[in-house]
Amino acid sequence: MGRDSVSVFAPATVANVASGFDVLGFALERPGDTVVLRKTTEKRVAILAVEGDDGQLPRDPDKNTASVAARNFLEAIGFPFGLEVTLRKQMPMSSGLGSSAASSVAAVYAANVLAGSPFTVRELLPFTMKAEEVACGSAHADNVAPALLGGFVLIRSYDPLDVVQLPVPSGLAVATVHPHTEIKTEDARRILKKELRLSDAVRQWGNLAALVAALYEGDLELLSRSLQDVVAEPRRGLLIPGFAKVKEAAVENGALGCSISGSGPSLFSLCASMEKAQNVGTAMQQAFAEAGLDSDIYLSQINETGPVILEGQSQERGGR
Ligand code: HSE
Repeated sequence: MGRDSVSVFAPATVANVASGFDVLGFALERPGDTVVLRKTTEKRVAILAVEGDDGQLPRDPDKNTASVAARNFLEAIGFPFGLEVTLRKQMPMSSGLGSSAASSVAAVYAANVLAGSPFTVRELLPFTMKAEEVACGSAHADNVAPALLGGFVLIRSYDPLDVVQLPVPSGLAVATVHPHTEIKTEDARRILKKELRLSDAVRQWGNLAALVAALYEGDLELLSRSLQDVVAEPRRGLLIPGFAKVKEAAVENGALGCSISGSGPSLFSLCASMEKAQNVGTAMQQAFAEAGLDSDIYLSQINETGPVILEGQSQERGGR
């Protein structure tokens, strides 16, 4: 007999990682979301509760990213049962930390467990991408792929989908600072230039290729030189009060590099150790305060696990 209910945590993510617009992301240890699914005999997906969102997220199962992702999954396996969804938001929304991705990844991962794991974890990715499209109008995978697979993930191609897991240099830590202001991904995408100058494209792919090489080599100096974005950051930085000063504070205090997390407004700094990340996070928070914004700091190593099943206080990895 399989289980009738399961609770899954999926992590927040940093998408783009400076030079990898829409093609690179990594997972954080925290924050993240928890989804509790319960099997029902009625063959539909219903939302039982959404907690921790101040009533902001849709309760309509056709619009909520967790229920949409679970339904996509059930449709693919012929809807053998229905599901009741409880979504516990434990992270800020419209923050650039992959909030909708954490919800949809937790939901699909949980649904797969309840169905007896007919899909490998990697095969779950398309279901979460469709949910991302509902959440923000674009089926980009640079949040959902690392939330699902853990670590650094590169999307080599969207059609056909081809994702590559990259190594994580030991000790690498990240300070992510979330200023208390919201930016909708849809809006942050609209302001981007639709065409690039060839010279900018050359800089961007040089940095992205070097960043990947740095991860393989564990070369933090090369990683530091590679954390540059000439595509999205110049425009999106203008939406974030104090952006230039916060970035300057991060680098002056020892960050390997600092850029916008996903579509912002959070900024991330990769650092050589947790101790450095702590100092850098504090300096970034101080700079945001000088720009008039309160903020939260999340310190983390790179999460190489992805989603986990929550059993009381213990956690386990399900699926294949
Ligand atoms: N790559 C996406 C963007 C991530 O930057 O628009 C959104 O979180």
